[in-house]
Amino acid sequence: MATVTKESNMTTVTKICCIGAGYVGGPTCSVIAFKCPHIQVTIVDLNAERIAAWNSDTLPIYEPGLDEIVRACRGRNLFFSSDVDKGILEADLIFVSVNTPTKKSGIGAGLAADLAYVESATRRIARIATSSKIVVEKSTVPCRTAESMRAILEANSRENIHFDILSNPEFLAEGTAIPDLLKPDRVLIGSLQSEEGKRAQQALAAVYANWVPRANIITMGLWSSELSKLAANALLAQRISSVNALSAICEATGADVDEVAHACGLDSRIGPKFLKASVGFGGSCFQKDILNLVYLSESLHLPEVADYWRQIVTMNEYQKTRFFELVIRRLFNTVTNKHLAIYGFAFKKNTGDTRESAAITLVKQFIKEKANVHIYDPKVDDAQIEMDLTDPSVATPAEFKKHVTIHHDAYSCAQDVDAVVILTEWDEFKTLDYEKVYRNMNKPAFIFDGRLILDTTKMKKIGFQVDVIGRQVY
Ligand code: NAD
Ligand code: UGA
Repeated sequence: MATVTKESNMTTVTKICCIGAGYVGGPTCSVIAFKCPHIQVTIVDLNAERIAAWNSDTLPIYEPGLDEIVRACRGRNLFFSSDVDKGILEADLIFVSVNTPTKKSGIGAGLAADLAYVESATRRIARIATSSKIVVEKSTVPCRTAESMRAILEANSRENIHFDILSNPEFLAEGTAIPDLLKPDRVLIGSLQSEEGKRAQQALAAVYANWVPRANIITMGLWSSELSKLAANALLAQRISSVNALSAICEATGADVDEVAHACGLDSRIGPKFLKASVGFGGSCFQKDILNLVYLSESLHLPEVADYWRQIVTMNEYQKTRFFELVIRRLFNTVTNKHLAIYGFAFKKNTGDTRESAAITLVKQFIKEKANVHIYDPKVDDAQIEMDLTDPSVATPAEFKKHVTIHHDAYSCAQDVDAVVILTEWDEFKTLDYEKVYRNMNKPAFIFDGRLILDTTKMKKIGFQVDVIGRQVY
């Protein structure tokens, strides 16, 4: 059995196990295997169906560049398995990369992170491990979660087994996960400042050093590392809510939000990224992590701080509502029995992920107004759309059947509809033959651009009634 070897007081990692084969565990550990052929990497999950997909030709997630990486090392030094215990037993280092959703009930419901999956993975490591291990928090967790993990591991493990706990948050964005992992801006490794903690920190740093420049591997204390992840997501989302707040002012004044964002982004202190106005940010993490920060602030009796961060989510909800109301207003104050084509269901382009997608909120509201909704997304499975829209908070299966039709091309989706509503910025929506789209629509033909991707002058010329977030269209 592999153990942590110590050469000249250095710990060398030869076998890695990753618990959680999701959007983070899968790509992250596949890239580690790709860049470290001398390390055996096993990714385990309780979800046998997901593991089977990782072992098949159709991976469970769509991510540009991922197929090639997996194909290059699967069966060589990269393995996917539902035998969680074997993975734990064999590993020197274990990533805990399980989901940490917002709690749905109990104390902190609607705000705090649900750490049940982290706790159950940690308890399993304690129960199964027969040798010392480095345990790495890869999941995004509240500040000081490592303390709870340590308590669980120490109270439940066998004698003479030592666990070092590290925080190594992940910063990849979906759709660009592979380039993000191959060339990360930084890798954070937090540890306790003990001798053993620092040795474990160096062992993980040595893994990343196989492809990440040492200067980009940042070591720090555990609590700073945990908080840095929540902080980074909050700051990124804050920029989007700021530009979305400006988009409302632009629509009312005649300023153009893209021009304003461009002008501000040229200031090197501000920078150009994450200033694209939109129908609202989605994704599994921004909202969850900000609410987590709100909960942390409240728990620390810092209500002003909590209110400050909460406003980012409030503004995001406002943006989605504003866009919905715009569609209703422009369609003569009713969409009942009208036909709407929804272009894009994923929360951003280049992913099939729909978690917290603005499309779910918008379509839910259209269904409540009894509109007939036609949906086209190049990468989201039909079953996923159905699952998202038959959630009890959205629509009953009967309402879904009556009001929603899923299409597999953009033109059939817009056939005989009153309006096209763009909710995801897929490249293909920029280059469609909009004359053809227009020809087959009911007139007047409306188009609503929630992603600022259309040439509005061209659209007007074709004959569309055009509305864009953050801009008046004349
Ligand atoms: P995910 O839901 O896609 O994957 C989590 C996986 O963990 C699931 O397949 C689940 O079956 C498995 N799992 C849960 N408990 C388990 C257990 N006890 N044993 C074995 N498997 C178990 O989640 P994700 O998107 O990969 O996110 C994972 C973590 O990474 C979250 O904390 C998230 O906040 C963070 N994160 C996500 C992203 C992203 O882009 N999705 C980016 C950075 C960080
Ligand atoms: C985000 C962060 O960018 C990652 O660094 C982080 O690791 C990840 O969350 C996480 O913790 O899960 P992700 O949600 O995958 O990544 O994608 P982003 O590119 O950040 O986009 C999030 C949402 O914001 C999308 O709906 C996107 O369309 C929207 N967005 C993004 C805008 O509306 N405007 C922008 O300028 C940028």
